Amino acid sequence: MNIAIINNKGGTGKTTTCVNLAAALANSGCHVLLVDLDSQASASLSLGVARSNLAPSAAQILFGSMDAEEAIRNTGVPRLDLLTGQMDLANTDLMLADVPGREQRLSRGLSGVKGKYDFILFDCPPSLTMLSINALMVSEYYIVPMSVEYLALEGLIGLMEGIDRMKRGMGLKAELLGIVFTCIKPRMIRKQITKKIAGLIRDHYGKLVFETEIPKDVRLEEAPAYGKCIFQHADNSRGAKAYVKLAREAVKRCGIKGKEAEKDVELVEDKG
Ligand SMILES: Nc1ncnc2c1ncn2[C@@H]1O[C@H](COP(=O)(O)OP(=O)(O)OP(=O)(O)O)[C@@H](O)[C@H]1O
Ligand SMILES: [Mg+2]
Repeated sequence: MNIAIINNKGGTGKTTTCVNLAAALANSGCHVLLVDLDSQASASLSLGVARSNLAPSAAQILFGSMDAEEAIRNTGVPRLDLLTGQMDLANTDLMLADVPGREQRLSRGLSGVKGKYDFILFDCPPSLTMLSINALMVSEYYIVPMSVEYLALEGLIGLMEGIDRMKRGMGLKAELLGIVFTCIKPRMIRKQITKKIAGLIRDHYGKLVFETEIPKDVRLEEAPAYGKCIFQHADNSRGAKAYVKLAREAVKRCGIKGKEAEKDVELVEDKG
């Protein structure tokens, strides 16, 4: 299952969610590949890769100069592999400007390793450019991490409209697996406006909002500085527990949707 972690707004917890959801899935026994599509390489640095050691990266796969098998590396987390991000990714739109089928470069580049992983998670940059489009084109699902504030709500509407346009214009198939609220303050000190916006989003998107909310947790904020995921840094923290819960919910959602689809097929076959 391929899942893009996406939001065109910056600083909404995409990288934190991608790293720790990937680690939680790997800890649960799944084979996971994290593809870092951000030129800042935050996910790669968060998993302990030195800045001087970021190459080869996802850029070489997108530009077709290397096979994914050669560029993928292990991480300190068992069963979690990584395709790093790197500064070169900032040139993607320019590099692919005149390349036919440029939205499918990642899909093509990863075709050799697809069967190897239970989950491939893509950490997208905060923009709907060619990098995010490539991630969405190769994904069955996408997850939108968002902070609960008014401008984030406006951003969410813009993002959904953008993805809908891609569905119509490019044949994009990825479905929303869920919106996840990140950096949530304890209920006691949550502002009235935060509660109102969270309520509005839950009313509008219903079950598409994950039940699990990721709390604001200093442990989650510290972990990248040590080059560790939350489970290596503070296994007992509220942040760690929340990402375990999110992983369970995400797996269930992927599974339930799969089973529903199978049921639909059976119904059609029965009728036929
Ligand atoms: N639940 C949390 N509790 C505390 N700090 C958090 C939490 N989630 C994210 N942060 C911190 O907030 C900042 C932004 O998070 P993150 O890098 O995950 O966002 P992003 O959406 O990937 O940002 P960008 O758009 O720049 O890629 C980071 O410093 C991160 O450590
Ligand atoms: Mg990020």
